[in-house]
Amino acid sequence: MGEVDPAFVQAAEHRPKLKPVEVADEIPVIDLSDFLNPHHKNTQQVISDVGSSCEKWGFFQVVNHGVPAELRRKVEAVAKKFFDGPLEEKRKVKRDEVNAMGYYESEHTKNVRDWKEVFDYLVQDPTQIPASHEPDDKELRILTNQWPLFPADFREACEEYAREVEKLAYKLLELISLSLGLPANRLNGYFKDQTSILRLNHYPPCPFPHLALGVGHHKDAGALTILAQDDVGGLEVRRKSDGEWIPVTPTPDAYIINVGDMFQVWSNDKYESVEHRVVVNSTKERFSIPFFFFPSHYTIVKPLEELLNEQSPAKYREYNWGKFFATRNRSDFKKLDVENIQI
Ligand code: SIN
Ligand code: FE2
Repeated sequence: MGEVDPAFVQAAEHRPKLKPVEVADEIPVIDLSDFLNPHHKNTQQVISDVGSSCEKWGFFQVVNHGVPAELRRKVEAVAKKFFDGPLEEKRKVKRDEVNAMGYYESEHTKNVRDWKEVFDYLVQDPTQIPASHEPDDKELRILTNQWPLFPADFREACEEYAREVEKLAYKLLELISLSLGLPANRLNGYFKDQTSILRLNHYPPCPFPHLALGVGHHKDAGALTILAQDDVGGLEVRRKSDGEWIPVTPTPDAYIINVGDMFQVWSNDKYESVEHRVVVNSTKERFSIPFFFFPSHYTIVKPLEELLNEQSPAKYREYNWGKFFATRNRSDFKKLDVENIQI
């Protein structure tokens, strides 16, 4: 592994500074107990903290979020066992022409290979996801999940965990809607037949961390991402004010939330989808588990009427999520460039 494989080498301007800048500025940590608690004492404060974090960073972290820590531990444990297992076993569930979900050992972001391996599955039973915009949408037929036989409790651990994270996703959707001055359930209907994905990421130690990235700089395409990162660290967020890469220091059992391109369009740029990337290190492996909260295939995404007026006309054309989802590289959910649909 001493040799540097050029497939992983980032262009000079994208290589990480391995000694991160001193940061006085951190992604805010928001305590959700006041929102989740039925008495809702300080709801307004939580809503306004969420709104200001979305505007300033496009990111925030949450604690007291209601997802049981032991379910997260279980998924972390099965993920570690699965990725530590033999490559032949992992390849039995690999993504290919027929299967859009499963294991893949090589992902690329902006044509440079990421230093990681991944497992993906669709949270809602894909056989129950209704057809998209067109009946002959070939891509939808191959949206089937694949499950490894080892470890034996892999599927159960993932499914049990995802059900709890999904509840958090709806709470966050409500909070963000309220922070935009909308009714809490304004966006819920779009997720009836959700196409959300749970992803397991494994970043092995990298012998040339100054040249490669675990994930190259990108924005997320969906509505929200709910990320569990372990205690190693590596996620960096591009600070809007000056473009500096700011590390997200791991907070035990917190989730890192970011608004994706879809919120940028819905909010007509009030909440921008912000670039982020993952730095790897030469000694420690890292695991992370993002939940990508994606709406139904047939969702038409466009700036929300209630947020538009003469001073602030729509900045984006509408698009069909399913069509977009089907026509891009199926395993790579980072390709929607909202610039392409800008008016
Ligand atoms: C991602 O943004 O795709 C991965 C984030 C992480 O592993 O921290
Ligand atoms: Fe991402």
